[in-house]
Amino acid sequence: MKTQAPDPTKLPPEVNREVPSIARVCDYFMGGKDNFPADRAAASAVEQVFPQGKQLGKESRFMLQRATRFLVQNGIKQFLDIGSGLPTAGNVHEIAHETDPEVRVVYVDNDPIVLAHARALLADNQTTTVIQADLRHPDGIFEHPDTLRLLDFDQPVAVFMASILHHLDDEDDPWAIAAQIRDRLPSGSYVMITHFYDSGDERARDVEAALVKGGLGSGWFRTADQIARFFDGMELLEPGVAAANDWRPDDHTPRGSDTHHLLAGALGRTT
Ligand SMILES: C[S@@+](CC[C@H](N)C(=O)[O-])C[C@H]1O[C@@H](n2cnc3c(N)ncnc32)[C@H](O)[C@@H]1O
Repeated sequence: MKTQAPDPTKLPPEVNREVPSIARVCDYFMGGKDNFPADRAAASAVEQVFPQGKQLGKESRFMLQRATRFLVQNGIKQFLDIGSGLPTAGNVHEIAHETDPEVRVVYVDNDPIVLAHARALLADNQTTTVIQADLRHPDGIFEHPDTLRLLDFDQPVAVFMASILHHLDDEDDPWAIAAQIRDRLPSGSYVMITHFYDSGDERARDVEAALVKGGLGSGWFRTADQIARFFDGMELLEPGVAAANDWRPDDHTPRGSDTHHLLAGALGRTT
């Protein structure tokens, strides 16, 4: 899907261009055009201490795409992509439909700009939709009429939370939220997470400070143990919680990347 620079006259009124938004900063790091000066200023504060921000964004996307292929090849036909971000190249439905055009995908984001762009791009798509909802309130996601229209929770579902849980503070108890989501899923479902990784790389704390204090207000680096706790009560597939580029790499996965130890990924299955 192609994105163009935002047309201010077509933006939903709740979009505040003066305050950086995670979705638009993320779009900047993906090389997109759906961002404003406030977003670029927040991104620039990060780039000053961590010029490889764009690389990290790409590596999260690559893992999401590898996980999508793996899951479709293993018979998964339904995806719930929470914190989907602004549409970019290689979205879940595009990757999944290369193998199985009947796969159904619900994208979820709490940023109104995501809803506006994705709705326009998905207008004629029968298998894919986007809803505006908040990860901190899973009931609003699972009980949304559009979720229930497309997804059958008597059948396995893959839930993606790529580069979103690190935007939830410890005070939000993201572990309890992950557990609520797990409890909603039938046996044989999957949860895929990518997350900023505190692997002992000394840059982690500096990047975290730039993200948290540089205007975004969040972007927490967590250890492998903390990330593994998101999968409590689930079976972690090999190789467990790993650097994202070490998670079932393919021919396109970066090797020897400078950001290798700063992003973790894992895939769990419900029992
Ligand atoms: C860093 S982007 C990741 C986009 C995409 N998942 C990826 O990996 O390329 C994080 C996205 O999560 C969304 N987000 C942040 N907090 C959220 C929340 N509490 N509920 C729903 N979406 C949220 C942001 O609006 C943003 O679009």
